[in-house]
Amino acid sequence: MTGRVDCVRVDLGPRSYEVRIGEGLLARAGEEIAPLLARPRVAVLTDETVAALHLPALRAGLGGIEVTALALPPGEATKGWAEFSRAVDWLLAAKVERRDIIVALGGGVIGDLAGFAAAVLRRGVRFVQIPTTLLAQVDSSVGGKTGINSVHGKNLIGAFHQPALVLADIAVLATLPARDFLSGYGEVVKYGLLGDEAFFAWLEAAGPALAAGDVAARQEAVRRSVAMKARIVERDETEAGDRALLNLGHTFCHALEKATGYSARLLHGEGVAIGCALAFELSQRLGLCSQEAPSRVRAHLRAMGMKVDLADIPGDLPGPEALLSFMAQDKKVVDGRLRFILARGIGEAFVADDVPGDAVMRLLADACAER
Ligand SMILES: NC(=O)c1ccc[n+]([C@@H]2O[C@H](COP(=O)([O-])OP(=O)(O)OC[C@H]3O[C@@H](n4cnc5c(N)ncnc54)[C@H](O)[C@@H]3O)[C@@H](O)[C@H]2O)c1
Repeated sequence: MTGRVDCVRVDLGPRSYEVRIGEGLLARAGEEIAPLLARPRVAVLTDETVAALHLPALRAGLGGIEVTALALPPGEATKGWAEFSRAVDWLLAAKVERRDIIVALGGGVIGDLAGFAAAVLRRGVRFVQIPTTLLAQVDSSVGGKTGINSVHGKNLIGAFHQPALVLADIAVLATLPARDFLSGYGEVVKYGLLGDEAFFAWLEAAGPALAAGDVAARQEAVRRSVAMKARIVERDETEAGDRALLNLGHTFCHALEKATGYSARLLHGEGVAIGCALAFELSQRLGLCSQEAPSRVRAHLRAMGMKVDLADIPGDLPGPEALLSFMAQDKKVVDGRLRFILARGIGEAFVADDVPGDAVMRLLADACAER
């Protein structure tokens, strides 16, 4: 263990758990996980890329605990029925029982798939998240949303199933390609923008060091992001209300992801960053926040070398009408009015249920015209 371990508790009554954040947690995974085990054995689901880089360290860290592991192909395409049913059958063949623990070692794809497998296997077994991307450490491993994609859309099949423990080892982020790291950073920025201006100001100062590999800065960013997500999930575990705040930038993002065919042209966190910039622009146009707020959002994203505008997405995009129709499919439209997360300033987001479609249309038309 090289440094301090931060601990964020997610308080959900009988489903409460801890998110432990620190450098070198893989190396001591055995002592972290052992208290949860009914017998010294875990089943690990991972992907081939992560398995090659980090499974040996996890095996070593688990010490005397027997490890059986399945590595699925990397990538979003894995998050569908085919690999899901393969994983569930493998878990059954491996004789995973009700009181056993499944370990998800990987990014959001593996976390979502393994969590859903744990939710349905033998009507529910416990699982431990070991997130290996920045996105998974700050977002997908916490909060219990699990699931897979359907031909009808992303994340349409799933369950709420909280992990029993989350181990976020900051050291594993060192092997993440820079583009994937910055994509995850889009979600980090989102937390500052939605509810904590001081955190956003801290990111403006610490962001470049964090991207360059500063472990202490990375740990602090993960800790503050997880703490914010934990507080929101505690207030609204199943997204009946406040949890929707976490969707800041996501309505735009989902339309852009659909427009780019969920391809490598636009990673999820890149879409979130562009979406946050658009949400602040829309808020300013609706007279909700000052002109300075969207400028500050854009300036930080630019300073980090991130995508900010539609023009930063390579290749053709459909026009504003098509983008708006993708949004309408994504969220409920009532009498031409859309549900968005808007902001009264940096750190002051709120759920707006009555956003006029024509204001969104004008925003998209201007954004497309700048391409
Ligand atoms: N459940 C939730 O609340 C929630 C929230 C946000 C996103 N998600 C989901 O998360 C998924 C995206 O997650 P992601 O961005 O982590 O994608 P991912 O799991 O596909 O990982 C991205 C890539 O990085 C590789 N990788 C992972 N860790 C690595 C490491 N340490 N070093 C080198 N390479 C590594 C993976 O093999 C993969 O190729 C989407 O399916 C999205 O729907 C879920």
